[in-house]
Amino acid sequence: MTDNSPAAEFSWPTTIDRPRFGVWAPVWGPFAAQNYPGDPFDASWDLNKRFVLEVERLGYDSTLVAQHNLNPNGHELPELEAWSTAAALAAITSRIEIIAAIKPYLFHPVFLAKIAAQIAEIADGRFAINLVNAWYKPELEKAGLTFAEHDDRYAYGDEWLSIVDRLVAGEHVTHQGENFTIDDYVIRPADPAVKPKVYLGGESEPARDLAAKRADAWFINGQPVEVVRELIDSVTSRPRTGDPVDFGLSAFVIARETEEEAAAELELFWKLANQDAETLEGVFANADPKAVMFETFRKFPHIGTNGGTAAGLVGTYDQVAQRLVEFYDLGIELFMLQFQPVEREARRFAEQVFPRVSALLERRAKVAS
Ligand SMILES: Cc1cc2nc3c(=O)[nH]c(=O)nc-3n(C[C@H](O)[C@H](O)[C@H](O)COP(=O)(O)O)c2cc1C
Repeated sequence: MTDNSPAAEFSWPTTIDRPRFGVWAPVWGPFAAQNYPGDPFDASWDLNKRFVLEVERLGYDSTLVAQHNLNPNGHELPELEAWSTAAALAAITSRIEIIAAIKPYLFHPVFLAKIAAQIAEIADGRFAINLVNAWYKPELEKAGLTFAEHDDRYAYGDEWLSIVDRLVAGEHVTHQGENFTIDDYVIRPADPAVKPKVYLGGESEPARDLAAKRADAWFINGQPVEVVRELIDSVTSRPRTGDPVDFGLSAFVIARETEEEAAAELELFWKLANQDAETLEGVFANADPKAVMFETFRKFPHIGTNGGTAAGLVGTYDQVAQRLVEFYDLGIELFMLQFQPVEREARRFAEQVFPRVSALLERRAKVAS
């Protein structure tokens, strides 16, 4: 943190219903500009350790550890390995939820279930997985693995998740399917009481079907309120058994005291984005052309990844707090936020926006009672 005095931890009142707040861990470097002044590239364990401990202290509820085996911004750039990082974070934290992304083609479901059950035990119920079905072709192709067709990846992910989900619940699994043959496999320890929650990130029709069928929560890329409303309706209207699906929203935040300051910061990011144009072209060129997520990105130009500023969390502290409450009212239960510079801005958000969201919700609860 640039200011060395520790920011106060925010305590949410227990009397109100509220959304949860999470941060993307900076496991593959900065989320927007590669050359933000005074913010050199850093994807180190040192930064991630310090950052996640600090956001836990500041009152954040969750952190998302993305999985990229090759850094899409450049293969010579470092990238923290998701699952070993998640295990280490589980061991050093005590309250925050740790979500690790997983691409089914990278691990056989039996072996991934074993790792997941182990981290769930270390985290004592705070561990979750985010099923992501891959878009960056070189990650698999350069390893000699087939990058399957878009919808086939979801069919594979469906079968894969059906196995993992039962194994981490402690069940004996016998399975004969298109891709896997499993004979009375069992994972020990696998405690149903700490079974990882399953998130799913992906926007296509098969992603939505799979979210409704097997996930506990669906992650939406940052997009305007009215689009997010339609996306939520689209998933809630699908066939599902069990509890209703939860919704998470990814977003890049620029929050400032005044509108002018926020606009100036956004402008700076657009200027810096021009310097990264070649890198971004490379990322898009290597993406699966059928990945719906990238169509969305073209529709809503933004700063940050996964929709970033398209969610509209850019403005004064009060405007950002109000927009968050609007999303919460639609059904967003978890905001998964990106910041740059990551430490300074996550701290600013906790200090300035948490209390404002809390005050808005408290005021409303009082009026209603
Ligand atoms: C919140 C969120 C997190 C994601 N994290 C990752 C990740 O860690 N690694 C990855 O390769 N893809 C990640 N993705 C991308 C999706 O899993 C998926 O590959 C992409 O959306 C393309 O699928 P689609 O056509 O269904 O949209 C993420 C998506 C979302 C919404």
